[in-house]
Amino acid sequence: MRTILIAGNWKMNMGPKETADFFGQLDDDAQKNIEGVDAAVCPPFVSLSAAFSARKSGSAVKIGAQNVHFEDNGAFTGEISTAMLKELGCDFVILGHSERREYFGEDDAVVNKKVKKALAEGITPIVCVGEVLQERKEDRHFDVVKGQTAGSLDGLTADDLTKIVIAYEPVWAIGTGETATPEQAQEMHAFIREQLSQLFSEEAAATVRILYGGSMKPGNADELLRQPDVDGGLIGGASLKPADFSQLVDIAAGQK
Ligand code: 13P
Repeated sequence: MRTILIAGNWKMNMGPKETADFFGQLDDDAQKNIEGVDAAVCPPFVSLSAAFSARKSGSAVKIGAQNVHFEDNGAFTGEISTAMLKELGCDFVILGHSERREYFGEDDAVVNKKVKKALAEGITPIVCVGEVLQERKEDRHFDVVKGQTAGSLDGLTADDLTKIVIAYEPVWAIGTGETATPEQAQEMHAFIREQLSQLFSEEAAATVRILYGGSMKPGNADELLRQPDVDGGLIGGASLKPADFSQLVDIAAGQK
């Protein structure tokens, strides 16, 4: 019922040339329209145009951005607006990634403004939540994720909820090679869905895709994606290699 989403977060990697090379090397199979699977990559802003140009016509791979500003336009040096992303044709925007929260001071209130702006522009926000290692050690991970989810989605309607994607990314699993176990992922995803059903409605919560992120790769994706509340992956390192990305799409297709 929920279409699996395999989304690559390229972070600060892949300039325009490497982006064009990626699409040049990407397997045709990974670009097919596969029933039950969506695939997307989110290159840096400067590589978005290259991604749109290099993507084969008819390719089902969607393209998204990694951040956006919440104002329409104006004196915000260095920022990018949702209208600009829309003009390019972006389908997704990653919001509230833990690296934005940690290094660029983004809090739930800022993430919330960005989520509302993306929704108003018709771009699907991929809203990231997740605890750091210390919080898990102190058994506070559920509270932390609950707070981030409620704060980031404050003021949304049940209808809005059906138009967003959530990504649970335990910070201790990002780029560390250490993955949450399938049980840990499932437990948190089910917890998030239950919270969404209380905050909005059971029907809307049942439609929301909740992705797992944190060292997901071809070797561990199958088990993670088999969990009933894991509806895809937000993948960093492994999404940079066309062969790995294709394999991830293939594994997702095998779930159906
Ligand atoms: P890695 O897959 O490199 O651990 O990164 C995960 C992530 O942060 C995706 O947004």
